[in-house]
Amino acid sequence: MTADEIQRAVRVLASGGLVAFPTETVYGLGADAGNEAAVAGIFAAKGRPRGHPLIVHLASAEALEGWTAGVPDPVRLLAERFWPGPLTLILQRSPRVADAVTGGRPTVGIRVPDHPVALALLDAFGGGVAAPSANRFGSVSPTTAEHVRRDLGDAVDIVLDGGPCRVGVESTILDLTGEAPAILRPGGVTREELEEALGRPVGERAAGGPAAPGRLPSHYAPRARVVVVPPARVPGSVAEELKAGHRVGILGVARPPGVPPEVDLLVLPADPEAAARDLYVCLREADRRSLDVVVVSTPSEVGLGHAVADRLRKAAGPRAESGDTPEGP
Ligand code: TXA
Ligand code: MG
Repeated sequence: MTADEIQRAVRVLASGGLVAFPTETVYGLGADAGNEAAVAGIFAAKGRPRGHPLIVHLASAEALEGWTAGVPDPVRLLAERFWPGPLTLILQRSPRVADAVTGGRPTVGIRVPDHPVALALLDAFGGGVAAPSANRFGSVSPTTAEHVRRDLGDAVDIVLDGGPCRVGVESTILDLTGEAPAILRPGGVTREELEEALGRPVGERAAGGPAAPGRLPSHYAPRARVVVVPPARVPGSVAEELKAGHRVGILGVARPPGVPPEVDLLVLPADPEAAARDLYVCLREADRRSLDVVVVSTPSEVGLGHAVADRLRKAAGPRAESGDTPEGP
């Protein structure tokens, strides 16, 4: 990545264009968060329904003031401990935040990403960059620049290539606007880490809270159907799918006894951090191999395993008919 490329990307942002950029979690599709028309361009490029709020990315916590209505104490503490990093904080917004960014909500999601290219871009741009994951709406998030190009093609003005993403699943979304902090989406920062930092239990907001696309069942899905079963059920489930004439793959550490060699093995490491890093690559590989179905066992839900299990459940969940509008705010 050269200084010239960063400067070119800054000019694209300043003129209302779209810049895909690497973060430690997944690639983002960025626009000037202060420019309604530019932000509208994000929704068009992704095919994402309007009204879904976007995360505002900042170069540092110092820039928070302009975007939020005050900075409560726990925010300072969390920012100090986890930023730059894979944590998005939902806070009361300042009136200056564009409606297109928040979908008209009184709150705004903010994060400082931990990637040298993202930070160089944000620093050079100076403003906030609104960015969802740089994939088509409803599909698997991109963890390489190549994924972005394949998904979005000409819809994006420039793709900054920062190599494969280190974390591999999206940021944890923590809502600080309610009585108690609540996780809206598990991600790169674990619940254990948040509880330790805050010195209190952190719950998860049940469905029915403010709509977040990451909470909709149809998200994070490859074309292949995803079937999540307990480990002991993998061979039986594979046998059923084969009998139905499907092209079957399994996602796991190794081929379990009883799973025949014609079944593709996509290696998902046992270690939760490695599994998070490789998960979306595996799901994309399933589609590249034109598998009809991928059978995967539930990973252990410790640390990042929580986010991995969450994404697998969502990939396996019911899919919205195309044209369906997900729940509103
Ligand atoms: O790791 C990440 O978070 C990546 C990188 C690019 O930063 N971004 C990302 O953005 O995953 P996106 O748009 O794919 O997911 C952001 C999630 C959505 O589920 C959205 O609804 C939620 O954050 N969100 C944003 N602002 C919100 C708000 N004010 N209230 C509730 N949820 C919000
Ligand atoms: Mg997304």
